[in-house]
Amino acid sequence: MRILVTGGAGYIGSHTVLMLLEANHDVTVVDYLSNSSEEAVRRVGQLAGREAAFVRADITDEKALDDIFEAHYPDAVIHLASLKAVHESVSTPLDYYFNNVAGTIALLRSMERHAVRTIVFSSSATVYGDHNPKPFTETMTIGAMNPYGRTKEQVENILSDLGSSDERWRIAILRYFNPAGAHPSGRIGEDPQGTPNNLLPSIAQVAVGRRETFMVFGGDYDTRDGTCLRDYLHVVDVAEGHAAALRYLERNPGVYRWNLGSGEGTSVLEILHAFEAAVGTPIPFVITSRRAGDLPAIWADPSAALTDLGWCATKTLAQMCEDHWRWQKNNPLGYTVAHQNHI
Ligand code: NAD
Ligand code: WQD
Repeated sequence: MRILVTGGAGYIGSHTVLMLLEANHDVTVVDYLSNSSEEAVRRVGQLAGREAAFVRADITDEKALDDIFEAHYPDAVIHLASLKAVHESVSTPLDYYFNNVAGTIALLRSMERHAVRTIVFSSSATVYGDHNPKPFTETMTIGAMNPYGRTKEQVENILSDLGSSDERWRIAILRYFNPAGAHPSGRIGEDPQGTPNNLLPSIAQVAVGRRETFMVFGGDYDTRDGTCLRDYLHVVDVAEGHAAALRYLERNPGVYRWNLGSGEGTSVLEILHAFEAAVGTPIPFVITSRRAGDLPAIWADPSAALTDLGWCATKTLAQMCEDHWRWQKNNPLGYTVAHQNHI
């Protein structure tokens, strides 16, 4: 297939593009590089032995999107481009709604004009909010608790309405839980700009010496060791989930929702200790106060993805930590310095 990947230079995007190239699809990446580097796309091309086309463009720009559809005539779109920092979304909600919701509407309008009606969308476990029992299943009522999460919820609703309006649409909504790790080559991985928000990059930056102490946000939760439980899954498994969803959509028009998770909750301290095992040395940490908005425990019921797509998370926590550490150790400052030095 010819596949357009929005946000394809980002963390999940780069791993997804690599997997698509390896499966012999032709890929066009659209990204405006707000939280990523073109270097990621270059390395993906090196790893795959063939390149994705890269267009630096903003998905809120419908004219730019039309030009891309006319130049690359994709069969399907994998839509990952979005802003994703929960705390930033609280202080700049308009930026989040414009980029994530208006940007998706622009993309869908351009798709419709070019008769491209197959899309896989990156949603998030955050849409389940705090009112549902665990594990989360796709049939539960959603209700996110912050502007970022609400952008995902609104796009899910738009996609649902679109599917109801025209039965030719083929729409997969993937609700990722906590993607972690990096490609085993150590050449591509998560490269957050500024202070990382997510757990694995925060631990890894302490391990590599970029930060002094890892802060555990809360040690007094009602969990087995007092720290929060999350459902971590390897980013390569997440990438595979997109391919599985595309294969399903080839056979089935309609709108579908699937959790991508491992089905298991792992605590912050368990992740920290698994990362220490990967590094081979202790990582300095301190238990601080809780982070506002954190839920004590979240994990997926991933059985629908197994039944419908034949997909499940295959890689272990140890692999996530080893692969993330290889990436961080080999690229202590992420892509930036390597890019400047043409490594
Ligand atoms: P990322 O920030 O690494 O990648 C997102 C990419 O989208 C970036 O390269 C950014 O430059 C690009 N982008 C953003 N707005 C754009 C625009 N208007 N036009 C063009 N490009 C734009 O993030 P990621 O972790 O790879 O996440 C990918 C998707 O998965 C996002 O939609 C995110 O909300 C979703 N998601 C991520 C996680 C996670 O923990 N990483 C969990 C659940 C869902
Ligand atoms: C995991 C656990 C923290 C950093 C967020 C978004 C969500 C989704 C995934 C996109 C929590 C703890 C973290 C640190 C810590 N993203 N932690 N010290 O909270 O499940 O979800 O990312 O859709 O929308 O909210 O993931 O990686 O931020 O945190 O103790 O320095 O690690 O408190 O318990 P989370 P996370």
